[in-house]
Formats: sequence, C-alpha cells, structure tokens
Amino acid sequence: MLVSAKDMLQKARDGKYAVGQFNINNLEWTKAILLTAQENNSPVILGVSEGAGKYMAGYRTVVGMVNGMLEELKITVPVALHLDHGSYEGAKECVAAGFSSIMFDGSHYPIEENVEKTKELVALANEKGLSIEAEVGSIGGEEDGVIGAGEVADPNECKRIADLGVTMLAAGIGNIHGKYPANWKGLNFDVLAEIQKLTAGMPLVLHGGTGIPADMIKKAISLGVSKINVNTECQLAFAEATRKYIEAGKDLEGKGFDPRKLLAPGFEAIKATVKVKMELFGSIGKA
Ligand code: 13P
Repeated sequence: MLVSAKDMLQKARDGKYAVGQFNINNLEWTKAILLTAQENNSPVILGVSEGAGKYMAGYRTVVGMVNGMLEELKITVPVALHLDHGSYEGAKECVAAGFSSIMFDGSHYPIEENVEKTKELVALANEKGLSIEAEVGSIGGEEDGVIGAGEVADPNECKRIADLGVTMLAAGIGNIHGKYPANWKGLNFDVLAEIQKLTAGMPLVLHGGTGIPADMIKKAISLGVSKINVNTECQLAFAEATRKYIEAGKDLEGKGFDPRKLLAPGFEAIKATVKVKMELFGSIGKA
C-alpha cells in the first residue's frame, strides 16, 4: 500500500539520513526502483513530473501500475507516490487519482500567491492524509518543461511557507536540475543552515541530486536535508547501457530485438544507480 512520505521523512531527519526520490518514466523504471528499494530494505519515493504523468497515459494509469506492482512484487518497504513540481491544478488531479504525496511548486509566483495556493493545498492534503512538499526559490535548469532561474531562497520566505504546515520544503540553494556546469559554485550551505534554523525541524528537500559530490550530499544531510531527488542520473545510466547493447550489435543476434532483452541492460543500470544513491543517502536498512 502506498504511504504518505511524512513518517519516512521525519525518521530520516531524526536519523540523519535522506530518502531518495527517484523519478519514473515507464514500467521498467518503476520496477527497477521498487525492487532495489525492497532488496535494500530502504524506504523510497517515486517521483512523477507532470510531463512524465502525461507520457505514462495519465495519473490514474500511474497509480494503477504502481499499486499493481506493490502487490505483485510483494513490496513491503514504505513507498510514496509523489507528484514532482506540480502545478496547482496538477496537484489536485493527483490527489483525486490516488497519489500518496504531492508537490506544489509555487516558486515562480510572487511569495503572497505562493503562500495562498500552498495554504489551500495543505488543507486538501491534510484532509486526505497525504504529504505535501512546497518550494521557495526556483531550482535552476529545466525538468520536463519546468524551467527555473536558479534562485537562492530567502530563509524568511521559507519560514512563512514552512509555517503553513507543509510536510517537507524544497529551497533553491544553488542546486540545478540536470548536469552541473564545470564552473558551478556548489551548494550554498550558509543559506541552508539559516533555513534549517528558521524552519525548526522541517524535513528539507534537495532537488537536482544528479552530480552533486558525495561530500556536499553528506553536509546537506547534516543540515536537515531528508529527501534528495534524482532523475537525470538514472536517465544517463539507462541510455548508456542501452547504447552499449545496440552498438555491440546484440539486438541483431537471435531474438536480441525482443524489448524484454533490449531494455534489460538499461533496467539493470537503473537498479545499480539507485543502489549507489541509497548507500550515499544512508537509507539502506531503514525501511
Ligand atoms: P536531477 O535530474 O538533476 O537529478 O534532478 C531531479 C529532481 O530534482 C527532480 O525534481
């Protein structure tokens, strides 16, 4: 059964580790992430962007697929199905479709509007027993059409949003979706520490997990980050493994063109990537 992300994130915050949010794109992605979580006894959050939701034929399809897998694959670790960077309308649709967690990304609105809309969605999430993530200070780069300027969040605005009763808070601290440029300045830990101080115990979310060096991940966790989002890294691993299979001509040998064979190396590559991240985040054995 899907669960809200609330308990798993509060435990992570208290235990000084982070739960990974891994974005899904299709059946192979979902199965790879769920099996890796189960094999490593780790809680996990499946992230679905609005673009990925559309690609997978709508939120109800996603809920059906994930619920089916939890049962058929006998997944017993805590799993949350979470809307990533949701719009106001998208968040409502996901609640209706059966997601167990939503994100409302109001970071591109003026703060008053972000507060108003977040407040409304907090009430809706509470009524249904779902977790809700809000965002202050847009994350840089682009993810499925959501483009952010890469602002550094104002800690006082973070406090205002946290005080609305959200479950977890994403704040821009120099993090970027996708690959980091060679001249990237790194995460802004002074701002993160200030946000942690002002939001007193709120589990914080680090987006743009791909390519952040291990020492920065550890430091972010020590400063209250309890959820780390990873998307691009699984995509790169999947693409590389698939390319190698094709370049080696394996699709031309015997029944190598069978999609179940063609997609198998990419599937294994996602599993390996997710395991490495779970080790780094410290969530293994914490289910
Ligand atoms: P990356 O694609 O950089 O790993 O970021 C993922 C993310 O933050 C999803 O919201």
